[in-house]
Amino acid sequence: MKLTKEQQALWDGAKGDCMAKIVKTLVLYGDCFGADEMVPVTGTQGHLVTSFGISTMKPVYDLITDLLNAGVLSSQPFSVDPRPLDPHVPAGFLQSIFFRIMYSKQAQYEAHLNKLGLINTDAFTCACYLDEVGNKPEKGDILSWAESSAVVYANSVLGARCNRNSAIIELFGSIAGFVPSFGLLTDEGRKATWIIDVATAEKPEAQILGSAIGLKVVEGIPYIKNLDKWLDRELTNTTLNYLKDMGAATAADGAVGLYHVENLTPEAKSEGERLIAGNAQEYRIDDAELSRVRENYPVIWKNPDAKPKLCFVGCPHLSYTQLIEWTDKLSESLTRHNRRTLNVPTVFTTAPPVLEKFRTTPAYRYLTTVGVVVSGICPLMYMNNPLCGKQPIMTNSNKLRTYSSARYYTDDEILALISKNKVPSSKDGGET
Ligand code: F3S
Repeated sequence: MKLTKEQQALWDGAKGDCMAKIVKTLVLYGDCFGADEMVPVTGTQGHLVTSFGISTMKPVYDLITDLLNAGVLSSQPFSVDPRPLDPHVPAGFLQSIFFRIMYSKQAQYEAHLNKLGLINTDAFTCACYLDEVGNKPEKGDILSWAESSAVVYANSVLGARCNRNSAIIELFGSIAGFVPSFGLLTDEGRKATWIIDVATAEKPEAQILGSAIGLKVVEGIPYIKNLDKWLDRELTNTTLNYLKDMGAATAADGAVGLYHVENLTPEAKSEGERLIAGNAQEYRIDDAELSRVRENYPVIWKNPDAKPKLCFVGCPHLSYTQLIEWTDKLSESLTRHNRRTLNVPTVFTTAPPVLEKFRTTPAYRYLTTVGVVVSGICPLMYMNNPLCGKQPIMTNSNKLRTYSSARYYTDDEILALISKNKVPSSKDGGET
């Protein structure tokens, strides 16, 4: 690893032992991936993945305490993944007590993040790139992020450059102001290793398409053809929402950090098929393939025919336009089923600044009357414990399905399930 004079001085302890350890860690990290230099972080804001003050995470708290004691702060302000707690999200008595014990360090952890460089107390979301949040990198920016859904969005849709870093490594990059140059930071590392031919007869469900791609290419880079015909020809809000959800599924069911969509995403637009590596493999996705992928999702509820106890929509967090669209569709569905309230308690999750804006709308008031809670929580953090893990919880998110016991349904199925008097059993096909 070639270090600049300034970087070498940091390694040698010019800014103290703590900073020297950070630089050494980043160098070791780069060495593992064959990096031979560091490059400056140019995005104006960082993003941290560790948002939860879980009582067992002592080494992280010790590390952050050491940083603060040494006066080593982030060189850039940062946003953080969503909070694990929201008292408005339905939870049983035992669950509520359990949450308080499990996340007993939350207040202390947030206070430390604040000193370290947190943008503000509203900056808790995985969709930090939404306009209302404002942590939106420019094309070509070098980032030090780790949240998989945000990394794949920043690389693919915004054209920024970021590796799929781990928690804490991403903080170290933001503190040092530089990161090792390898993988998705390099031109070569951004070449497509897979050509995906979307050959469906109708617009594919974003979450299932992303899942199919992720399961097939794993950490490869897909160049997706024939998807643009199902989307707006520009990066409109509808297309951005689709790409956000599809990308999160590629990153959760596989380890995709970057995808290119023919005629749409910035690099595919400017470079076209020159982005495709010479030995790229091919994968054709038709309706039968999407059905095969979907049918292989395991249902791990204790009782597959149980009535869902809770429904989460929004993982990654919903955008403002998605909240409006869901409200319109829900209102239409409830009217069609002659109901005034939901059949299943439902939580729409979004970024706190989006919620602030949405709170002033008639749509928000409508949702509160029919029984939807709009929250800034992370549903995975809500579910990732023995008590919630046993509950029959459903979601339209493949990421939440993959990392928890939540059961996946498409958007239309979710709408029907939360609007009807009866939830069909698995014997009826389990669907709408
Ligand atoms: Fe975001 Fe939590 Fe889902 S971080 S992508 S809401 S698992």
